[in-house]
Amino acid sequence: MKKVLIDCDPGIDDALALALAAGAAGSLDIVGITTVGGNVDLELTTANALALREFLRLDDVAVTPGSGGALLTGAVRAADVHGSTGLGGVVLPAPRLGPARGHAVDFIVEKLQAFPGEITLVAVGPLTNVALAVRHEPRIVEWARELVIMGGSYTRGNTNPAAEFNMLADPEAAAIVFGAGWTVRMLGLDVTLKAMVTTSVLDRMRPLGRLSELLVPATQFYGKVTDEGGPAIHDACAVAYVLDPGLFTCVPAEVNVETAGQYTRGMTVTDFRIGDRRPNALVATAVDVPRFWDLVVGAYEKLATRLG
Ligand code: RIB
Ligand code: CA
Repeated sequence: MKKVLIDCDPGIDDALALALAAGAAGSLDIVGITTVGGNVDLELTTANALALREFLRLDDVAVTPGSGGALLTGAVRAADVHGSTGLGGVVLPAPRLGPARGHAVDFIVEKLQAFPGEITLVAVGPLTNVALAVRHEPRIVEWARELVIMGGSYTRGNTNPAAEFNMLADPEAAAIVFGAGWTVRMLGLDVTLKAMVTTSVLDRMRPLGRLSELLVPATQFYGKVTDEGGPAIHDACAVAYVLDPGLFTCVPAEVNVETAGQYTRGMTVTDFRIGDRRPNALVATAVDVPRFWDLVVGAYEKLATRLG
């Protein structure tokens, strides 16, 4: 089984990514969940992670809160997209258990040190915790099996024309992460926007018992579902990459994060013309959409049998 540590800011698509990880429990060993301020404040992303942990039957997975804000600038939030609670209109049963003691940064470093070469770090929110972990212990770059992020884009932004939300929320953190020496697996908007929940996909989520009580309303809050298009479950692409990298076409590149541009702050400036330079990123450029949905819905179906 692949060990994963998921750093997230639940967040509707974070929730669907955690559900995918929970459904793939046979292939993934989730060593922990850490939370960061992002779509909504840290208190809410952590509360959502705690509720999701129990709803998804991940009861033995520690949830450790991390950074509430960006390294340098003020909070960038997306409550207009994810709702004031961060989970759209979905209300999950109140969690029985609270967060683990300690800070996410220490948890990330301790776990990667304890299992060198074994843990894939999956970051699907702003990269503040990951950047602080790198600064705290630079050796995590060698200890991590891989770093897989949902973030950035080489073609466009979503929060503005230039920047994707996770990068814009903390550009300095993203710059530290891309400059740390590992080869970041970057699942950017270029592919994640193809992971749209269309009517036919949503219909496959409907007959999943209790799980559909999360999946269906959360997805419908996230965006208008039509036969041709719908909300993209960005973060699930990062987990899907861990489960089956072959779903994606990835190209080596040099990625630099703009931190100073008046109009381009948070942009992941991606250069595929690296020649003999060592790439700092493997950038996803394509995804096999039908196979992606077969993987995701298959995992949800497995999880649904456990949830009833
Ligand atoms: O741009 C999409 C990303 O920003 C996703 O991680 C979503 O949850 C938001 O955090
Ligand atoms: Ca997210």
